[in-house]
Amino acid sequence: MVRGQVCAEHNASMEFEPQDRVFVLTGAGISAESGLATFRGSGGLWDGHCVEDVATPEAWRANPALVWQFYSLRRRDAMAAEPNAGHKALAALETKMGEQFYLCTQNVDDLHERAGSRRVHHMHGSLFLSRCVQCEEPFEDREMYESAVKLPTCGVCGQAVRPHIVWFGETPLDMDDIYDELYQATAVLVVGTSGSVYPAAGFVEIANERGIQTIYVGPEEPLNAYAFDEIVLGTAAERLPELVG
Ligand code: OAD
Repeated sequence: MVRGQVCAEHNASMEFEPQDRVFVLTGAGISAESGLATFRGSGGLWDGHCVEDVATPEAWRANPALVWQFYSLRRRDAMAAEPNAGHKALAALETKMGEQFYLCTQNVDDLHERAGSRRVHHMHGSLFLSRCVQCEEPFEDREMYESAVKLPTCGVCGQAVRPHIVWFGETPLDMDDIYDELYQATAVLVVGTSGSVYPAAGFVEIANERGIQTIYVGPEEPLNAYAFDEIVLGTAAERLPELVG
């Protein structure tokens, strides 16, 4: 197979042998057909703010009310969204492959779980978890904090409560576990991510060094397209059911 081969027309499908292990990385694109905006699709803007202006520790220190407004709105949008055929195809593949399947997502929504995925590794955190900046223990939280005068504080120590999200400049979660799984994979399937945020964008290079087959699915080539064995052009909901079904 020629690296970077683009497949736009014919039906692509991944065949798995019993010894195969599949590592899947998803990004904002897999939730696009569920109505959730991608980060860079709308110029990376939210209500006139750069995503970087509301998703950094600096933004949190400067204006926690704005940060909570942003994540409250995203909670609201995610609650109103439904998983699409792309999420469901990956959940069905997990059912088929069991422990030989690993799903790592950069997304903070819960659409993979609601589609039936059992083990989802949220490397950038979860929209429906919050944590005290002092106690640090994440807890389930579906509240909206849209008023600057009603920001949440910890019931134990009284410190501020923040979204359990990995912001720019912070370390992604569970990286040891994620690399362990990546090293053992026989195939890496990447869906709907622009290949612009590291370390996730570097997974494909690691896979290449180890001779692992790499496939990308999305409507346009990602920034790191050159690194993939195969690019399947199309949306997640259109292409994943045929590819992994
Ligand atoms: P981006 O917004 O950078 O990229 C979304 C990708 O999805 C693009 O490459 C689109 O072509 C693709 N896409 C759009 N519609 C699609 C569809 N229907 N099916 C499949 N693909 C589709 O989002 P991410 O790459 O996920 O980090 O962004 C990576 C990280 O940057 C995010 O996790 C977030 C962000 O800032 C943090 O918040 C730390």
